[in-house]
Amino acid sequence: MFPPLALLLPYAATVSASVHIWPSPKLDALEAQRWDQDDTINGFSSFVQPCTFFIRGNEDGSETGRANGPDWIRTAYHDMATHNAEDGTGGLDASIRFPEEQARPENAGTGFQNTLDVFVAFTTRHVSLADLIAIGLVTAVENCGGPQIDFRGGRIDAAEPNAPGVPEPQGDLDAHIASFKKQGFTQTEMIGLIACGHSFGGVEHKPFPEIVPEMNDPNNTLSVQHFDTTFDFFDNKVATEYIAGSSQNPLLVGANDTTNSDKRIFASDGNKTMASFADSSELFASTCASLFARMLDTVPKDVKLSDVIDPLPIKPAEVQIVLGRNGKLQLSGVVRLFNVTVDDPERTVQLLVDSHSGQTTTTTLALERSSSAMGGRIQSPFYAFNNSQEADGNGILGIIELDPVQGIEKMRFNINGKVEDQGGVGFKVQDGVVFSETSCITTVGATKDDPVAGKFDIAVRTGLNPTRVFLEQEVKDSVDRTVVKETNVEKPAQPVSAGDGAYELWSIQVNDANTYTIGAEIDGKKFSTIDTHSLKDLSACTPTKRRVWHKRRTGA
Ligand code: HEM
Ligand SMILES: *[C@@H]1O[C@H](CO)[C@@H](O)[C@H](O)[C@H]1NC(C)=O
Ligand SMILES: *[C@@H]1O[C@H](CO)[C@@H](O)[C@H](O)[C@H]1NC(C)=O
Ligand SMILES: *[C@@H]1O[C@H](CO)[C@@H](O)[C@H](O)[C@H]1NC(C)=O
Ligand SMILES: *[C@@H]1O[C@H](CO)[C@@H](O)[C@H](O)[C@H]1NC(C)=O
Ligand SMILES: *[C@@H]1O[C@H](CO)[C@@H](O)[C@H](O)[C@H]1NC(C)=O
Repeated sequence: MFPPLALLLPYAATVSASVHIWPSPKLDALEAQRWDQDDTINGFSSFVQPCTFFIRGNEDGSETGRANGPDWIRTAYHDMATHNAEDGTGGLDASIRFPEEQARPENAGTGFQNTLDVFVAFTTRHVSLADLIAIGLVTAVENCGGPQIDFRGGRIDAAEPNAPGVPEPQGDLDAHIASFKKQGFTQTEMIGLIACGHSFGGVEHKPFPEIVPEMNDPNNTLSVQHFDTTFDFFDNKVATEYIAGSSQNPLLVGANDTTNSDKRIFASDGNKTMASFADSSELFASTCASLFARMLDTVPKDVKLSDVIDPLPIKPAEVQIVLGRNGKLQLSGVVRLFNVTVDDPERTVQLLVDSHSGQTTTTTLALERSSSAMGGRIQSPFYAFNNSQEADGNGILGIIELDPVQGIEKMRFNINGKVEDQGGVGFKVQDGVVFSETSCITTVGATKDDPVAGKFDIAVRTGLNPTRVFLEQEVKDSVDRTVVKETNVEKPAQPVSAGDGAYELWSIQVNDANTYTIGAEIDGKKFSTIDTHSLKDLSACTPTKRRVWHKRRTGA
């Protein structure tokens, strides 16, 4: 028998099987949240940059001693720790958001709500709160000196609180071993996971007055006794200080031995694990990377996680196609080149747009912005789909105009003379159902910014015959999960032709200024546009009817 072909190729090992094919809306969104940790669009890691940043302490400096990063890590652990490996219930599922869980003694402190208040703003239909809790740990650890952590996506937010299960400091060693076993971790892994977590943060006086006294320190107004001397930074000091006997970890040197859980746990294998961490910062980092990843992947048994989400080396983003008022297709977007020098004057980036009939339009792209990840260890430039040939005033900057009849089948990129096309498939885009800029407002309220009625025109490619066309709106369900509300758009009896006959317009009356995307179902397959539209962004159809507000007559 011949060995599989992959084994014969020397570079096969570096080709990761987990880079997905673009487009894949959910994986694309998770990949961006995980790998574009900071850019002008995302900004997630700005909450842990610098690592001392504390959301409640920044305004007037009155609350010091804590930082967001440690809160984010503890939130992930406490959300996960309800897992029961025997029956597969509980785990990392954002059940920590329920007030009932936060009110339990095992979840003392304000760190969970502080954390979730930041995270909810980043949730979308594609990125659940539970996935954000996982990405939060990854982002905090990676931005504050820690190792790269494998992230898988697809966590589902629980519909109700989980059973209790988070260990507390007064538990005895046997209880803690049993508790971690229930969560799916051995005694050695328990020592590791706690050392990794307790490389950050500390114990605060207010929720734990029996463990930590009031400190009256103007530099630590919250009276937090830190686990090691670098409480906002990942390193093995939690172990070196422990082995050296100089640790001030409050769960180790606390006056009341009952609550010295780290003391019992760290010494429970004769200090073997902690000594190995103290000896080797590399071993500590690699152990923490794998234990953190396993902790994040501890989910209820019915949840199926994706492969590890590796970064796409070449990734289009924000790709929008609309039918312009002039009847031309308008393409805009950016392409990200992952982890390469941002400002490389030698680099040429070209966008090749292949039409349905195989004609190619080439556009040279310009550097627009960059994102960063892992505390700046990764920098990724973004090139915008600007038509540089037409940026002299003849074209619209940031938009590439395409013939509607030719349409667009797929994109490819030519970077320094090398064509990137995802191994031949190209970067497929759909021009079958797109927003039409003939959409407009029919009635405004008291001010121009207060649209009350209008119509969305949706351009459906002639001959496409979608089963369904609908507007999509992201809303919250009864337990605060983001779901998509669909509103069907009826196929018109007498369709209006547009785009040189390449499209027909379907219209729907809209009576609010909410944000919508457009969805369609063709041959049982659903897809959505990523461009969002609101009456607020539209202009008047024809001279607008302005509502007349009659002043009530006063007096006689
Ligand atoms: C027997 C197991 C554990 C016990 C008894 C325990 C106990 C505690 C206590 C009492 C605090 C103080 C919280 C506060 O003042 O608000 C704390 C903080 C913390 N714990 Fe644990 N912990 C355990 C395991 C873990 C694990 C496995 C991780 C992560 C993998 C972790 C991560 C953290 C972090 C990051 C903080 C600092 C929070 C902050 O400063 O805001 N802990 N832990
Ligand atoms: C507080 O921090 C400042 C600046 O780091 C330092 O100079 C000062 O001694 C600290 N005060 C106390 C009470 O530790
Ligand atoms: C030590 O802590 C335990 C658990 O919180 C408590 O029950 C006990 O009274 C404390 N002992 C002393 C001497 O304060
Ligand atoms: C473990 O290390 C601690 C801290 O240095 C020390 O106090 C303790 O005696 C050690 N325990 C064992 C079993 O070696
Ligand atoms: C980023 O590039 C550097 C230098 O080529 C490489 O060492 C590192 O592994 C890359 N990181 C990722 C996450 O791809
Ligand atoms: C490219 O287009 C974007 C809008 O998509 C605009 O913000 C940017 O300034 C343009 N850049 C260049 C170099 O023309």
